[in-house]
Amino acid sequence: MVTFVGTQGNFAEALKELVELEYAATDAYEAAVERLENPAYREKLTEFKEDHERHIQEISALLQKNEHEVPEKGMLGKQLLTTAKVVLANMIGDNTILQAMKSNEIDTNTAYERMNDHNNKWSDAEEFIKKGLQDERRHKAWLENTLT
Ligand SMILES: [Fe+2]
Repeated sequence: MVTFVGTQGNFAEALKELVELEYAATDAYEAAVERLENPAYREKLTEFKEDHERHIQEISALLQKNEHEVPEKGMLGKQLLTTAKVVLANMIGDNTILQAMKSNEIDTNTAYERMNDHNNKWSDAEEFIKKGLQDERRHKAWLENTLT
């Protein structure tokens, strides 16, 4: 599934979708870390999970600062990532798991690229979106390099 996050014309609405995507990404990383055998992979994916948790804090702060409500975790109840937590929880084999997380990182990269190009982007969101996009590119690149 290709994510729709970032396609919302209203920037606040797009940010709300983004925070939901970040919750889903954090859950997926948690499930992945639980299933991985290789300790170096577990360590790296834990680090990526922490980046996503930091993004949740930062998006929440941005929404609050601009007087918008922060969605609670799971409120939208949508399938936001290619490979959900529940699917990851049943996967076996490090390569299979990393492959699934790569698909998810393609989604988060798409979302951040859209947010970065958003026509109604808030000026106080500029720096966060740029850094977030860099984080997502770094996550995807690590997964690609590790899988080849
Ligand atoms: Fe990521």
